[in-house]
Amino acid sequence: MRLTILTGKFMTTMDERLLGYYLACEDSEAGPWNRSPRSLYIEYWTRAFIAGRIRPFSGMQVCNVGIGAGGWDNFLCDLLDGIGRVTSVDIDRGICELFRYRQEREGHRNPSTVVCADILTDSLTASSFDVVTVIGSTVRESGNYSGCLSSCWRLVRNGGFMMYMDFFRTPSEQFEAWAASGGAVIEEYAQDNTVSGYASWVRREDSVG
Ligand SMILES: C[S@@+](CC[C@H](N)C(=O)[O-])C[C@H]1O[C@@H](n2cnc3c(N)ncnc32)[C@H](O)[C@@H]1O
Repeated sequence: MRLTILTGKFMTTMDERLLGYYLACEDSEAGPWNRSPRSLYIEYWTRAFIAGRIRPFSGMQVCNVGIGAGGWDNFLCDLLDGIGRVTSVDIDRGICELFRYRQEREGHRNPSTVVCADILTDSLTASSFDVVTVIGSTVRESGNYSGCLSSCWRLVRNGGFMMYMDFFRTPSEQFEAWAASGGAVIEEYAQDNTVSGYASWVRREDSVG
């Protein structure tokens, strides 16, 4: 999903910012794409990928890196409603504030713990999540491909999983090389020509001793 968050002297209160967000999702710039079959299909495909693999259990901890428009994080919170918790990380303070407020205002039953941090330098506790997701343009936007993946990977507990989804403009061989260099086990890989992208489900198995 695309949007350009409106800011400026007339967008002062959080409710005004939230209205700006809703309008930006549907405006003449982002709306046609967000309503298009391909955009809806990408969202369907990506959500179906994790829904078919994640095995929720009581107390499960999931982290998503890169909130963007927030639809993915909102969906993860739904998946874990009544079961576990989601931590949502983004470097952009405005995005973090608005996502936190949006979930509160919309009365999400299982809101995220929102953490405003640069994943490349953050101090989130290592090995503290059962599943870590990083999707779309987040890794590319971070400006440090392997550094971003390694920082996400650091958060996955032993026996946990990372889901990485990206588009073909970032060749999957780049991801395979990163995984091979760090001993990450790509358990499943799927690609789709309509999405023009792929997703990997990667297991963390630390060797003992
Ligand atoms: C375009 S969004 C895409 C992710 C989104 N979850 C989706 O549905 O596709 C990318 C997000 O990554 C965030 N981001 C970029 N670099 C980052 C970094 N170093 N640490 C944390 N977040 C970062 C950006 O602020 C932006 O909100």
